[in-house]
Amino acid sequence: MSPLLDSLVHADKAAVLRDSATYWNPDKVQAWAARGTPLVIGRREGYHLYDMSGHRLIDLHLNGGTYNLGHRNAEIIAELKEALDHFDMGNHHFPAIGRAALARRLVETAPSNMRYAILSSGGGEAIDIGLKCARYATRRKKIVSVIRAYHGHTGLALGTADGRYADQFMSAGRPDEFVKVPFNDIAAMEAALASGDVACVIMETIPATYGFPLPADGYLPSVKILCEKYGALYVADEVQTGLMRCGGGHLWGVTSYGVQPDIIVTSKGLSGGLYPIGAAIVNEQAGGWLKEDGWGHISTFGGSELGCVAALKTLEITLRPWTIANVDAIAARLRAGLDVIRARYPFFTGIRQRGVIFGLEFNTHPEGAKHVMRELYAKGVWAIFSQLDPRVLQFKPGLLLTPADCDEILERTEAGIAAAASSF
Ligand SMILES: Cc1ncc(COP(=O)(O)O)c(C=O)c1O
Repeated sequence: MSPLLDSLVHADKAAVLRDSATYWNPDKVQAWAARGTPLVIGRREGYHLYDMSGHRLIDLHLNGGTYNLGHRNAEIIAELKEALDHFDMGNHHFPAIGRAALARRLVETAPSNMRYAILSSGGGEAIDIGLKCARYATRRKKIVSVIRAYHGHTGLALGTADGRYADQFMSAGRPDEFVKVPFNDIAAMEAALASGDVACVIMETIPATYGFPLPADGYLPSVKILCEKYGALYVADEVQTGLMRCGGGHLWGVTSYGVQPDIIVTSKGLSGGLYPIGAAIVNEQAGGWLKEDGWGHISTFGGSELGCVAALKTLEITLRPWTIANVDAIAARLRAGLDVIRARYPFFTGIRQRGVIFGLEFNTHPEGAKHVMRELYAKGVWAIFSQLDPRVLQFKPGLLLTPADCDEILERTEAGIAAAASSF
């Protein structure tokens, strides 16, 4: 092992925390310690994380789906190691082997109306690309999003976000450019669109940071119909809900609700958890600028060729028939077990679920999920509370879990929930 790597791999946890608090992010270091989850990830393997102290955790956060296929997935690592002998980031101005292959694959596996894939270095950047495409296509500026939405911390994405994120940097966006409506309120959506000056509606299929409230029956298709009626585009943020997480064999969650959007945004899991990449997949109307002025979006690391290799391998694994069937099997097994646990603990008030996306409700306390998170951590499960609704615990199992993994998750989850009972 090189001296550099040796010093990193064998670092001392107290020193890492001290340097993090001094040079990186004092508030975050303090906040996680105060919440009883002072995690500094050391070893990571499959769906297991090990804190530097050695404490083992099953990862049910997955960084929003980044680790859908597990940590350090062996197949993706092997592909990337070989790729390092041939590729680097590439030069973003030119056509490239990796970018051509990934863009083609993304379009081929998307709904049939899609034409181009514009590649980015991450999710927020891809959201901004999608919103710019909608403005280009409609020559309108206004963007409608959902109250308590979160689409990333870049410029336009932050304009669509909840004040919790936007206000600190005076990024809330002018009210005549960014309009926010309640989720699942179709009348409010129509009122926002009826002025006829809206470029697009941006919508997470199931809003993650808001605690995964499920769309009401017919809500998403009705939003799409309203978009068509008033000449706005539909931008589906599939950063967390895409890549098979909604189950049912749907690569994109939004199509599982019967909606063919104009733009699909993906990132996180597309990276295989190993090399950053994102994409806005767009239809002809939204991508029209690509034929007029290809320099409409410029990003040095956008679609880096190594990232393209990671993404191609990720798509291959995700679309295997075995993976597709496994997602539905995991979803059913965990749901059945969680139903049993819920019946035993009255403060576990509800389960939101679509495929392997779960929001566990602890509604009798305003910050119920924070208490449960702390106790689960002690019992060896890492699942995070929803920042914009701390009553709800995000519970996000990976796509390749085994039945034995599911049973261990259920056992440890029940132990954590039992321990949390005293907080309610
Ligand atoms: C739904 C959603 N969209 C967009 C983003 C932004 O992605 P990134 O952090 O890669 O910029 C996130 C990140 O958490 C997200 O959850």
